[in-house]
Amino acid sequence: MARIGVIGAGYVGLTTAACFARLGHEVVCADVDAARVEALSRAEVVAHEPGLPELVAEGVRAGRLRFVLGNPEALGDADFVFLCVPTPTGADGAADLAAVHAVLAQARDAVRPGCVLVLKSTVPPGTTERVAELVGRDDVEVVSNPEFLREGHAVDDFLRPQRVVVGAPGSGSGSRSGSRSGSGSRSGSASRSGSGEDAARRVVALYEGTGAPTLITDSASAELVKYASNCFLAMKLSYVNSLAELCERVGADIADVTEGMSLDDRIGAAFLEPGPGWGGSCFPKDTRALLSAAEEARVDFPLLRATIGTNGHQARRVVDMVRDAVGPLRGARLGLLGLTFKAGTDDLRDSPALAVAELLAEEGAHLVGYDPCVHRDCGPVRVLGSAEAAAAGADGLVVLTEWPEFAELDWPALAGAMNRPVIVDTRNLLPVDKVVEAGFRLVGIGRGATAA
Ligand code: NAD
Ligand code: UDX
Repeated sequence: MARIGVIGAGYVGLTTAACFARLGHEVVCADVDAARVEALSRAEVVAHEPGLPELVAEGVRAGRLRFVLGNPEALGDADFVFLCVPTPTGADGAADLAAVHAVLAQARDAVRPGCVLVLKSTVPPGTTERVAELVGRDDVEVVSNPEFLREGHAVDDFLRPQRVVVGAPGSGSGSRSGSRSGSGSRSGSASRSGSGEDAARRVVALYEGTGAPTLITDSASAELVKYASNCFLAMKLSYVNSLAELCERVGADIADVTEGMSLDDRIGAAFLEPGPGWGGSCFPKDTRALLSAAEEARVDFPLLRATIGTNGHQARRVVDMVRDAVGPLRGARLGLLGLTFKAGTDDLRDSPALAVAELLAEEGAHLVGYDPCVHRDCGPVRVLGSAEAAAAGADGLVVLTEWPEFAELDWPALAGAMNRPVIVDTRNLLPVDKVVEAGFRLVGIGRGATAA
């Protein structure tokens, strides 16, 4: 079992620390946020992440997981140090690597000989290679091991990942193995430095027990797998959101169109749900960072520009739908159902729901809202304790996040409580027949309006 240091106790760092402790490793997790460290030391997890509080409690109880304020201990005692610090959008859309550099400046002198520094933060291609040069120690390896977890599924995604990708600086083509993808390996004409590849294999070994297919490659390729995957998914969604708009204009139903598309194995069914736009802590910043990296490498990437541009237009489009359904927005009282960037999380970072709310407020609408995971007012939205409270006296309801409980509401009661029974469902979540039967006019995305 390895001694692992994890730097950063946010969504990724905390999940990494707790899951490695579950896999039997000894983990010290460091953060600069005193309140967070204090709460975690009592095994209190603030974020809504199914299974994570239990795993943190288990690790703390077993003595395999500790939380510390400041990084020296996590750096100095470890065989492997995972950097899980933020890489937000910086100048010109590029990833801001200040936190990564701050940790590396500490790590350079603090880590033991033989330690492997692992970049789990999402970083642009070339970063690991440059960082290894900056660290400049022959007795320390630096590798890339991007994280693919989804919020709301973080524990499952970490313990049963679809892939583990590790990249070591140097050149060469990938070697793969894995129980789920079938095993095998291929070797290329060029070979990367032996010690880097050895470090990469040792990082892969930490995930033993997860059954994950693995890919060991050069660090720039590993870094790109992360951006390429997120941007591809974002591209699929922008495509579907434009298709939904077209469906409304030509009288088609996006649900039937995407169902028909998904019957083709080559397309698949995932990431074909239209919505108020894609958001969260990753897609918006990663699409911009990849575009910036492409520009820096003098590669024109119009597809990515259009992916981002299409999403930028989505909140405005939702506001147009609401205005068409409700009438003039000045003075209208609207109940917003869902505020987080997707269901299953309490994360509001880059939430499309809040982007829509800002625009509605600019047009003079009075906004109240309900979200099962949000308990404080958000921007222009006064947050209430139930969907019923949000509906009372409203001129319209707008479903912005696909919380399953919204599909189970008491529609006749809501219709009775509203000033006007109108709903705009930007997630196509609600049961059309029941809602319309209750007397609502229901406007879906990519399918137009339905009324009794
Ligand atoms: P986060 O904001 O939830 O957590 C980051 C933590 O790092 C915070 O607790 C912060 O206090 C701490 N921190 C900042 N600077 C520090 C320093 N110098 N030393 C120690 N701790 C420090 O961020 P996150 O969502 O966990 O994302 C971290 C990285 O993982 C980013 O690069 C992100 O792109 C990537 N990522 C995120 C997700 C996701 O779903 N959130 C998924 C995959 C990859
Ligand atoms: C994403 C990636 O999926 C994950 O692999 C990566 O590690 C981090 O970024 P996450 O940000 O948790 O994960 O959210 P995700 O489930 O991918 O959803 C992103 C956005 O797309 C959300 O706003 C969501 O509502 C939207 N979405 C997703 C749709 O609008 N329609 C869909 O069909 C799927």
